[in-house]
Amino acid sequence: MFKILNFLIIRLISFIPKPIIKIFANQYVAGTTLKEVLQISKYLNQNKLLVTIDILGEHTKSTNECDRITNNYIKILKNINKNKINANISIKPSHIGTDINNDLFLANLNKIINQASKYKNFVRIDMEDSNLTDISINAYKKSYKKELGIVLQAYLYRTENDIKNLSKNNNIRLCKGIYNEDKNIAIKDPNKINQNYLKLLEIAFKKGIYVAIATHDKSLIHKSLELINTMNLDNSKFEFQMLYGVPMNDTIKFLLKNEYKVRIYLPFGPSWYDYSIRRIKENPNISLYVIKNIFIKIKEAL
Ligand code: FDA
Repeated sequence: MFKILNFLIIRLISFIPKPIIKIFANQYVAGTTLKEVLQISKYLNQNKLLVTIDILGEHTKSTNECDRITNNYIKILKNINKNKINANISIKPSHIGTDINNDLFLANLNKIINQASKYKNFVRIDMEDSNLTDISINAYKKSYKKELGIVLQAYLYRTENDIKNLSKNNNIRLCKGIYNEDKNIAIKDPNKINQNYLKLLEIAFKKGIYVAIATHDKSLIHKSLELINTMNLDNSKFEFQMLYGVPMNDTIKFLLKNEYKVRIYLPFGPSWYDYSIRRIKENPNISLYVIKNIFIKIKEAL
């Protein structure tokens, strides 16, 4: 049934009128302008939630465009500081230069990190598909400052070694991984991905690495909490992260009540349409999530 639905979604997505896609995208995208994303950030802060802001887009094809996006990230950092918002930023390497060359990517990344350091803020390098894993990890190590963190994906076999090669001061976001990777390099079985996630989390904690536990999988969140309790870790060693719009109200309430930190990933920007379509085509699970979440929301409202 899901396979048929996936097939239909991939075939039909380009024919669905933009305004209809926007209705669905609106739930997951925090507006198209800086003003909108800052407003939503303030609102989330008022509700005790931390924020990480991401400009939607990837695989930028011109140097000028990479420079423009870099300057927009710098503008976001300035505005976060000016408005005293509790937010940091998340960046995709291919959005600021890797499709052109590594030097451009590193130069742009460093401009952004320097601005973040100035404001004592923080930059997270998002992890894209496996063609960019080495480039991203190398950039993280080369440009390392305490204001910089990276994402690692529990579905990749290599991640255990990548974590073992990090040290105490490092800061990772651990997620399952969203891209459709080859079975030679990535675990495919969802249960095994979860087992690996917990194994990696324990390795990272034992090394003293700060971990942003990024998942909406409730059983994984609870197993992570069990590990945190067993290891007697305090709040300064981890936070939870979730994507904007995914209906996680009960879990968020529970985490906040127990004084855990929760950060919401806020993607925004004018590229919402191309980005949404490309990501749905790459990974039809996203559209299945959207459909499932509509039912969860209806249930919550009843
Ligand atoms: P799982 O796939 O089991 O999902 C649990 C439930 O959550 C689903 O059934 C659905 O209801 C809901 N859900 C999950 N993802 C959803 C989505 N996109 N839209 C709507 N509902 C959704 N990946 C990556 O490769 N590189 C990265 O840099 C990041 N960054 C990142 C940041 C943050 C804050 C989060 C939460 C996730 C990421 N990811 C990511 C995505 C991550 O790798 C993973 O693909 C998704 O979070 C889905 O996996 P879950 O752990 O949520 O579990």
